[in-house]
Amino acid sequence: MLAVHLVSFFFTKLQEDPTKKVDRFLHAMRLHDDQLNDISARFQAEMKKGLSAESNAAAAVKMLPTHVRSTPDGSEKGQFMALDFGGSKFKVLQVKVREGMGIRKGGVEMDEKTYRIPKELLTGRGTELFDHVTESLKDFLHERNISLEKKHPLAFTFSFPCEQTALNRGLLLSWSKNFRARGLQGKDVVQVLRDSIDRTGGMDMEVLAMVNDTVATMMTCGFDDQYCQAGLIIGTGTNACYMEELRHVDLVEGDEGRMCVNTEWGAFGDDGALDDFITEFDRDVDAASNNPGKQIFEKMISGMYLGELVRLVVLKMAKVGKLFDGRVSDALRTKGKITTAHVAAMEEYKNGLKNTRTILEELDLSPSDDDCIAVQHISTIVSFRSSNLVAAGLAAILTRIKHNRNRRALRITVGVDGTVYKTHPQYPKRLHKVVRRLLPDCHVRFALSDSGSSKGAALVTAVAQRLASRKRQVDETLSSFKLSQEQLQLVKARMRAGLEAGLKSKGPSAIKMLPSFVYHTPDGTENGKYLALDLGGTNFRAMLVNFKKSLQQNVRLYHKIYTIPLEIMQGTGEELFDHLAQCIGDFLDYMGMKNARLPAGFTFSFPCEQTAIDTGTLVSWTKGFKATNCEGHDVVSMLREAIKRRNEFELDIAAVVNDTVGTMMSCAYEDPQCEIGLIAGTGTNVCYMEEVKNIEICCGEQGAAEMLKMCVNTEWGGLGDDGSLDDIITPYDTEVDQNSVNPGKQRFEKLTSGMYLGEIVRQVLLDLTRGGLLFRGHVTETLKTPGIFQTKYLSQIESDRLALLQVRSILQQLGLNSNCDDSIIVKEVCGAVSRRAAQLCGAGMAAVVDKIRENRGLDHLNITVGVDGALYKLHPHFSGVLQKTTKALAPRCDVTFLPSEEGSGKGAALITAVARKKKEI
Ligand code: BG6
Ligand code: BG6
Ligand code: GLC
Ligand code: GLC
Repeated sequence: MLAVHLVSFFFTKLQEDPTKKVDRFLHAMRLHDDQLNDISARFQAEMKKGLSAESNAAAAVKMLPTHVRSTPDGSEKGQFMALDFGGSKFKVLQVKVREGMGIRKGGVEMDEKTYRIPKELLTGRGTELFDHVTESLKDFLHERNISLEKKHPLAFTFSFPCEQTALNRGLLLSWSKNFRARGLQGKDVVQVLRDSIDRTGGMDMEVLAMVNDTVATMMTCGFDDQYCQAGLIIGTGTNACYMEELRHVDLVEGDEGRMCVNTEWGAFGDDGALDDFITEFDRDVDAASNNPGKQIFEKMISGMYLGELVRLVVLKMAKVGKLFDGRVSDALRTKGKITTAHVAAMEEYKNGLKNTRTILEELDLSPSDDDCIAVQHISTIVSFRSSNLVAAGLAAILTRIKHNRNRRALRITVGVDGTVYKTHPQYPKRLHKVVRRLLPDCHVRFALSDSGSSKGAALVTAVAQRLASRKRQVDETLSSFKLSQEQLQLVKARMRAGLEAGLKSKGPSAIKMLPSFVYHTPDGTENGKYLALDLGGTNFRAMLVNFKKSLQQNVRLYHKIYTIPLEIMQGTGEELFDHLAQCIGDFLDYMGMKNARLPAGFTFSFPCEQTAIDTGTLVSWTKGFKATNCEGHDVVSMLREAIKRRNEFELDIAAVVNDTVGTMMSCAYEDPQCEIGLIAGTGTNVCYMEEVKNIEICCGEQGAAEMLKMCVNTEWGGLGDDGSLDDIITPYDTEVDQNSVNPGKQRFEKLTSGMYLGEIVRQVLLDLTRGGLLFRGHVTETLKTPGIFQTKYLSQIESDRLALLQVRSILQQLGLNSNCDDSIIVKEVCGAVSRRAAQLCGAGMAAVVDKIRENRGLDHLNITVGVDGALYKLHPHFSGVLQKTTKALAPRCDVTFLPSEEGSGKGAALITAVARKKKEI
């Protein structure tokens, strides 16, 4: 009986305790640690979803890359104008970072003014809102006597979700908080700001960076604390950012280092992920908001909604008779009558209850003491839930950082800002306590950003400014590789003049125009088995070609590739030719044909003066070759002698051809319109079918007179050897030329071919590094090593897909330690050098095709160019630029470029077949 009495006594007591009554009523808002851990785990999953490229589109939490790659490092400086837009106050500022008078060393000085935003602009036209922003900026400049003529770098804090593709470009995804201006969603707000600055006129601003307030806050606090790797806002809205490993940020290329990610965590729950934690009051707040269904997490936490949540709870409790004896006032029914400031006042340490009474009385209510205690407790539960939810979100972020860095414990600072955090008396303490409880092995410090976000925005802008100035300097360096259409026309004209001069002169000329004694392209009747030998590209190749008479397309090829060691390339002629004979012997063994005495064609990819199809006197070595005792000698005889010395097999060398000629013949076998051969490989060269009457040097030759055309090996790589390209040659080219085995020679080739492009790139990189623009100014031994950049690396570096990743790993392989910005610059340098090469070849080709067109008195020429060479075949952009340039400079020619499939060996075999046929006749 006594027990029953006691229970009923406690029950009445409980019923009477106003806080217990509220506790029961708001049971769902009181989250214990298990629930917080659950929410934290859900948020971790959301972060993952937002970061991944596949799931980002569907993710509620957008995890936006900010393009801010580092926290302050102490090197930032400069004077900036700043706009702080999107919090409860709109401010214009001038920020001086370690500049000017009166600043303590290493400090930041700020001068600011808050401007009111008329309410109607929040929901009016976007352009009007921005015009208000820029007019305020102009007013500030006037008021502070800041020069209107000078160009000012501008930092822009814009506290809304933006999809940024660069620091100074961001598309507004959606408005949040109390903004809803029309016509800006999906637009680049930086451009909108620039347009508005132009409309307002009278000032010169360079908008260098746009940052979210979370990012700016992290940067502000990072200025004084290097451990600050996260930013948190609990103000009108709520949000957090942190430094994520770049390899996890799928939406941004690159894998090195970190990038700040703006989580936009306010949208957590927009896809229903928090439904089981949402109360009827949250639903009501959401339904009455600007953006129903959006920013669910934010609406449970931030300043814009806390007062409203409290009001709805109080109203409901009053309505069900649990407060004010069931009395409700009109004021209590009115949206917005309880604000976050009220919530803060009600929870004040000493005056809280008194404040609660005043606030309730101002709402035309007559609260009892218990009512005041109950309402104060409602405030506490609502604001406590807010800080608990923030703690859960933050715990997820910090756990992620800890895992990313593979740490058992983590020391980290979180920079915080926002009116709720700054003005609510209990909020910070509660938040810190819960975070530390949820993450016992993290040492978390909270740093209040006392100077707002503009300091941080200015720091980001300072880095952007440094990068922009670096970019300007790099662009300036690379500008010497940019050729205008006029310059390319000039190159075409010089090439044309060079071709004409070479055809006429018997003495030395820059372009040699060597007769090949090939009078026809193939007619398809060639047949039999031939050996093709091919020296002069990257390798020596031996090949067996079998043409079947009846089936034109049925060509069978067997080949083997042999590398030529550098010591052989640059040793004695005898050693070189002995080496070739050894390779041929090996190939014949391999084919089981040592005793066959096959007819052979010899592709020899160097300039040879020919007097017949089977003799060729080497004029001079090119590319990397410099074997002694070869220049001035007949290379066919040298090969024959080497074979004789070997005394293992016999060969009937019936033709010697340049690789361009072999390539043209090989392609002409497929396409009868092919009358030009082009090599863009280790070296560069062109041959084409010229009218015999124009070739003065061999007109008198027997046999030539009755022929109409003959293929001429131009050796166009020599263009410029007489100084005619001096106006486009850069100091980097000169350096490459001077360091080559043949200084002063093959100047056009040295601007355009694979053997030299990598060296030009290396010279530019050296210069940029010496100027402190690359590799942090460290000139390493590797970078000083000639030949490290082979053409294949250029091709890889310039490929578009995942290029930055590749660039970094290629540079790494080469022993060059680069960061992401370095990789971008290296890629730009490669691009400038290879583009110029392709354009120059295009200009040369335009000269050749126009000459052929004019030779034939045609208004329009259709012609095919057979092409070979690693640069053409492997480089991702070379062929495209070459073709485009040719088209632009020779508009009356339709030029088809046909890559040769089997190299020039097949062509050499075809020429041999014809030569043999003639012999037989
Ligand atoms: C300020 C920042 O300090 O904090 C603002 O400068 C930011 O840009 C704000 O939006 C967040 O707080 P509130 O309370 O003004 O929304
Ligand atoms: C090959 C030819 O296909 O292309 C060679 O057969 C030629 O003779 C070569 O020199 C050019 O390419 P690269 O890139 O090896 O110089
Ligand atoms: C809102 C915005 C977000 C901002 C936050 C705090 O959530 O969407 O970008 O950081 O408010 O101001
Ligand atoms: C060099 C040679 C030339 C050859 C070209 C392509 O320019 O001098 O004969 O055709 O390289 O390999």
